[in-house]
Amino acid sequence: MGNGKFITFEGGEGCGKSTQVKRLKDALEAEGIEVVLTREPGGTWLAEQIRTLIKDQAEDPPCDRSELLLFLAARAQLVKTVIRPALEKGVWVISDRFSDSTLAYQGYGRGLPLEVIDIANTFACENLKPDLTLLLEVDPTVAAARLAGREQATNTTADRIERAGSEFHARLRRGFVELAKQEPWRIVPINANGTPDEVWNEVWKSLKRIR
Ligand code: TMP
Repeated sequence: MGNGKFITFEGGEGCGKSTQVKRLKDALEAEGIEVVLTREPGGTWLAEQIRTLIKDQAEDPPCDRSELLLFLAARAQLVKTVIRPALEKGVWVISDRFSDSTLAYQGYGRGLPLEVIDIANTFACENLKPDLTLLLEVDPTVAAARLAGREQATNTTADRIERAGSEFHARLRRGFVELAKQEPWRIVPINANGTPDEVWNEVWKSLKRIR
């Protein structure tokens, strides 16, 4: 593996990841670091098709196990064709979500066994782990307001997972907190209730851990 660093952003719905992901890419590039930005599920042609199948189609919505396997199929393709080749060339990779989302959403959220997800995740990404994971934590009321704002601004409605209910979303948020406790050297919890500038200051500070 080359010297590229692998940074992931995680969090529940409406935590403001997308804004911070773009900001980090710009800041690193301003320092002359080559960066590939990607997202999960997605980031390759195949994985983007899978994204649509998981999020948007109502014809035959995936059952929980099928949902898990679709996320993992998308991840395997992204790691193999985008993330690993970039890291091997010394390019930094930032991903909007990665394997912690599967543990939080399909494990803590859907209730599928964490140990199975862990093994399947490792298999799908051939052992690849992020160097740093920024966990954006946001209060449910702030998240709900952000989601409503986004829906209005983009004239879209919530997708199947966003609509999964407040209990589901509370479980996965607790799951993320649990994951951060288990790997404090990798996962940095960030209070994301503030303004984008306030959150950005915390994100940028956390980068010191890997630079
Ligand atoms: P987002 O990119 O807009 O956050 O949408 C991705 C959705 O998919 C979001 O609801 C979280 C969910 N998700 C999982 O349930 N498991 C996963 O492994 C990943 C990567 C995402």
